[in-house]
Amino acid sequence: MRIGILGSGLMGGKLGTIWARAGHEVVFSYSRSEQKLKKLGPHGAPREAAQDADAVLLAVHWSRVDDVLKQAGDVSGKVIVSCSLPMNADDTDLVIAHTSSGAEALAKKVPKARVVSAFGTVPSEVLFGVFEARRRARRPSLVYCGDDASSKKIAAQLIRDVGFDPVDAGPLRIARYTEPFTLLIAQLAYEGDEGPELAYRFERFGRKA
Ligand SMILES: NC(=O)c1ccc[n+]([C@@H]2O[C@H](COP(=O)([O-])OP(=O)(O)OC[C@H]3O[C@@H](n4cnc5c(N)ncnc54)[C@H](OP(=O)(O)O)[C@@H]3O)[C@@H](O)[C@H]2O)c1
Repeated sequence: MRIGILGSGLMGGKLGTIWARAGHEVVFSYSRSEQKLKKLGPHGAPREAAQDADAVLLAVHWSRVDDVLKQAGDVSGKVIVSCSLPMNADDTDLVIAHTSSGAEALAKKVPKARVVSAFGTVPSEVLFGVFEARRRARRPSLVYCGDDASSKKIAAQLIRDVGFDPVDAGPLRIARYTEPFTLLIAQLAYEGDEGPELAYRFERFGRKA
């Protein structure tokens, strides 16, 4: 796949690097440091990253979403995988929750794009570890949600490529639950004593189909 990265920081830089290692063609964009983009690999302006992309990863702070989308240009019909959380300026709280979600607010901004919410529920620090452990039988889970079946298929493949077991949580409005869940993950990752390299795994018990 050709993947455009909008926001090449902790999440975008790492996920893009992993997808490139997994064999995808990745174009990084939207860092204030040209040097950083150069080090990551093929890069360009957001418009160039989004152009011809089979999937676009949106990985910017909530306050930068409008700006990066403006720079990306027309994203009609594009699959936008977003890990961006609707956090306030100092990243202490969600500014949208309960009756909507960042993912739904994003979908309203780009009504012709196909938004999937994914990757926002894990800390960036765990991503390379998950990728390195991808051949293990028991993979960590990763929830994702969205309203369009074909774009969810693409997102699920990208989730698998990183080394997670994709868990389809349903339509995009389920981001109302996954986004606050991330604050729990962040609490465990950043406020605990065991470091931020944390992923999660859902286990089902009961009758097998
Ligand atoms: N970090 C995590 O573990 C994590 C986990 C789950 C979800 N998320 C969510 O994922 C999204 C991305 O997070 P992140 O940690 O990857 O952020 P980040 O490291 O700050 O990366 C954001 C990218 O946006 C770029 N950017 C371009 N113009 C900018 C401007 N004027 N001001 C600020 N940034 C600008 C940054 O540029 P520079 O390269 O110049 O800094 C950087 O490349 C956020 O919505 C966050 O809530 C993050």
